[in-house]
Amino acid sequence: MKSSPSPEKTILIVGASRGLGLGLAREYLARGWRVIATVRLDRERLIACAGSELLSKLEIETLDTTLPAQIAALRERLAGRQIDVLVVNAGVMSRHDEKIGEISEQDFNWVMVTNALSPMRIVEEFSGLVPESGAIVVMSSAMGSITRNTTGGAEVYRASKAALNTLMRSFASRQTKPRTLLAMHPGWVRTEMGSDRAPLDVETSVRGMVKVIDAEAGKPGMRFVNYKGETVEW
Ligand SMILES: NC(=O)c1ccc[n+]([C@@H]2O[C@H](COP(=O)([O-])OP(=O)(O)OC[C@H]3O[C@@H](n4cnc5c(N)ncnc54)[C@H](OP(=O)(O)O)[C@@H]3O)[C@@H](O)[C@H]2O)c1
Repeated sequence: MKSSPSPEKTILIVGASRGLGLGLAREYLARGWRVIATVRLDRERLIACAGSELLSKLEIETLDTTLPAQIAALRERLAGRQIDVLVVNAGVMSRHDEKIGEISEQDFNWVMVTNALSPMRIVEEFSGLVPESGAIVVMSSAMGSITRNTTGGAEVYRASKAALNTLMRSFASRQTKPRTLLAMHPGWVRTEMGSDRAPLDVETSVRGMVKVIDAEAGKPGMRFVNYKGETVEW
């Protein structure tokens, strides 16, 4: 007897115009998932990565994550949909050599709002669409680990990812039903943010992360993990 095909799964990837978000979109499309991917402006790379045969599986939405009205509008457009996996990937870097006493309030706010507040607004808005069998993933960084911060550098970026991690733990503590919550470290990856000095390519990081998300989905609890599935110290 032929087994019936498994139902199509859907992922929402926030921040998929390039780098790791684009890589995740490509990988999930290749795996037969329906991919809802957000960009601020540039749709071209996403369209190209789907190619003509997978384009029907790709929905591109416009979202600047720092604008609450745009988050609310997207939530309204996706009302009634099931999102099996939510990945909030969008993020920005601060200058590596900038010390906390030197940064302008405007730049501090930009990094904190983009990397900590906005991802959590999105998690709060969309978590209701994610079933217990699914997963909510925020793109964190080992640079957000307080334990591992023995070298300093990129001080505001580190602080923003530490803030994101702790806000996710607060979110986790408020959940009344089982949920899979992951703060993900993708490794140091060759993207615009990671630079060409990074040891990992996007494909290796992305395949690792997809494997980890697959393995963790449906397991209740909050973890800080890397793309190999190893626990990162808080
Ligand atoms: N690469 C690494 O080694 C590494 C290591 C640890 C963690 N991470 C984390 O992984 C995530 C992705 O990094 P990446 O290396 O792929 O960086 P990237 O190549 O610089 O890409 C950043 C992505 O975030 C989007 N973005 C930034 N601000 C946004 C906003 N306000 N609204 C919507 N989208 C916004 C960008 O969109 P636009 O094209 O519109 O600018 C782009 O799609 C980040 O959260 C980063 O902190 C990266």
